[in-house]
Amino acid sequence: MTQQPPETGPSALEEHPDAVPLYGPRYQENPAELYRELRETHGPVVPALLEGDIFAWLVIGYRELHQLFSDPQLFARDPRIWNQWPNIPSDWPLIQYTSYQPSVLFGEGPEHQRRVDAISDAMSGVDQFELRTRCEEIADALIDDFAGRGEAELMTQYAYSMPVMAIAQIIGIPMADVDNTARDVVTSLDGGEAAIPAYERIAATMQRLIKAKRAEPGPDVTSRMLAHPAALTDEELLFDIILLTVAAQEPTANWIGNALQLMLTDDRFSLTLSGGRRSVSQALNEVMWENIPVQGSLGRWATRDTQLGGRRIQAGDALLLGLAGANADPYVRPAGTGVPDNNAHLSFAHGSHGCPHPAPELAEVIARTAVEVLLDRIPDVVLAVSPEDLTWRSSFQIRGLLSLPVKFSPVSVARP
Ligand code: HEM
Repeated sequence: MTQQPPETGPSALEEHPDAVPLYGPRYQENPAELYRELRETHGPVVPALLEGDIFAWLVIGYRELHQLFSDPQLFARDPRIWNQWPNIPSDWPLIQYTSYQPSVLFGEGPEHQRRVDAISDAMSGVDQFELRTRCEEIADALIDDFAGRGEAELMTQYAYSMPVMAIAQIIGIPMADVDNTARDVVTSLDGGEAAIPAYERIAATMQRLIKAKRAEPGPDVTSRMLAHPAALTDEELLFDIILLTVAAQEPTANWIGNALQLMLTDDRFSLTLSGGRRSVSQALNEVMWENIPVQGSLGRWATRDTQLGGRRIQAGDALLLGLAGANADPYVRPAGTGVPDNNAHLSFAHGSHGCPHPAPELAEVIARTAVEVLLDRIPDVVLAVSPEDLTWRSSFQIRGLLSLPVKFSPVSVARP
């Protein structure tokens, strides 16, 4: 059952004067180095400050994060029990990630499972070969727009467009609305003044979609969710379809961006040598261990006083998912063992609120196709700036480039 927040927040700042800010330039520089330092200084559970100096625990131990994922009754997803609410202003920059909304994201127990089942079953109906073909078409059309120019900025002109256009098709948005929806999703996630009207337009598009699919079902995720035995209400369906579109966007776009950055800057993946270079699969896997697109996430909330990683956690404390930190834990990555060739990383989270099956597989089809088609069409693509001049976003949550400028020999378009 949901508890009410206490009258006043505890003086966590006084209790933890060594709390580490999770904002600022260090996230633009070398977060891997930062996580190493944090582990050495604070251990697997780090006292931390979100923007506005709001206290939370950052969990960077692999075992501790696993424990967090495995006990949803103790570490709940519903943020309404947070003991810091009295300290949080209404214009807090991270409010959209912590304000409760009736989507699958914040559900608990059997009600949550019912919603996840509907999503997973509906997404399992996606034919991954068909998705690959759709993604090739999307990639070709995007590349056609810049191929003749000999230069491009791959984040805005490519990586950001691929996931949202692919997901829009999977959920059954009519082709005529796909471009506008794609623009609105990117705008709504950028924050700022344009975000709210963009989100309202997405909601209106999804409402039209649900109405249309109720009248005339098709071979798409929305129709399958409507027909699912979970018997979702229109409101539940609306929240969850918007969430699917939004949840897919930043992680998949930055998986593409980070893999391209790796392949364009690391000799092991050198694009200029014909043959012998490491594969796109290896780059995608390496990114998921070393430079993951969702490096941190909010979070879980302790439902009672407890302990984790030797720390005393109070009821209502927030615990942040230090996914990148956990992936680098010497417990799973002993020194000198290199990048594992398995997917035992925690980059898709784990447990009842982990990225739902088969979303990681669909994300991989989208990301792999994006990278492969680009390299096939533009084999001599190289960075247009030196690697040190690439700038990363300063977010604790998303690890991604602000821009990825490239140059190449102009090529003709795929289709006239
Ligand atoms: C590179 C690609 C992706 C990554 C790294 C990723 C990562 C994650 C992570 C870490 C979470 C857990 C967040 C938390 O517990 O706070 C999550 C949840 C979720 N993801 Fe993904 N994701 C990816 C792609 C996708 C795609 C393509 C979809 C949908 C088509 C999707 C749908 C969702 C949904 C609906 C949730 C919420 C599940 C719940 O709370 O029950 N994700 N994802």
